[in-house]
Amino acid sequence: MKKLILVGGGGHCKSVIDTLRRMQQYDEIIIVDAAYPDCRNVLDVKVAGDDAALPELKKAGFAEAFVAVGSVKSTAVRRSLFLQLKEYGFTLPAIVDPLACVSPYAKLAEGVFVAKRAVVNADAKIGRMAIINTGAIVEHDCVVGDFAHVAVGAVLCGGVSVGSDVLIGAGATVIQGIGVGDGAVVGAGSTVVRSVSARQNVKGLVK
Ligand SMILES: CC(C)(COP(=O)(O)OP(=O)(O)OC[C@H]1O[C@@H](n2cnc3c(N)ncnc32)[C@H](O)[C@@H]1OP(=O)(O)O)[C@@H](O)C(=O)NCCC(=O)NCCS
Repeated sequence: MKKLILVGGGGHCKSVIDTLRRMQQYDEIIIVDAAYPDCRNVLDVKVAGDDAALPELKKAGFAEAFVAVGSVKSTAVRRSLFLQLKEYGFTLPAIVDPLACVSPYAKLAEGVFVAKRAVVNADAKIGRMAIINTGAIVEHDCVVGDFAHVAVGAVLCGGVSVGSDVLIGAGATVIQGIGVGDGAVVGAGSTVVRSVSARQNVKGLVK
């Protein structure tokens, strides 16, 4: 019997649940969320406790867990939850929506979420815990760092390199071969035609 714990029951979790329901690969899915016991359900999934319940759930036969908290500017919460889950010995699957198109030549690390209508093309490498959100395009030979978030509808053209903890905002386009340094934030709708340094916050036409 395949069981999964989702950690965090907010908006991003709803997207993840929607994907999991259509994947039909898990027999049992539950959520842990800090808002328990006030929050008892997210969509049709039961909230079974808060983070403190994780060790008991591990003992009860849940081997896999997935961080379902999203990230906009800061990846701190996703990072700390990831470390906590590893410490408890959980396996973190990569979850790919059946409506996404991921090349068999692409590599996805643990804890990655690829949402519906996203494309990850040949020889792309997606780092641990990265989010490739709804309708995003990660073209051939791109590298996306750990904990990075390529937001809804963003486009990374071929060979783009995105560092760890980066946000590529909704609808942004990064042209081919460009590097975006660790911790940078690329605003929604930006067009990036030059490299972006680590921790830089850019928006609009970035040239
Ligand atoms: C760029 C961003 C990170 C905000 O950065 P910020 O430095 O905190 O910016 P502020 O909100 O203080 O706004 C500063 C100015 O930039 C403008 N601005 C904000 N976001 C912008 C964007 N994406 N493109 C162009 N201008 C933008 C604001 O209107 C404001 O203009 P003003 O000074 O003339 O009033 C944010 O607006 C953004 O685009 N986030 C990405 C959101 C996203 O993609 N979410 C994904 C969910 S899946």
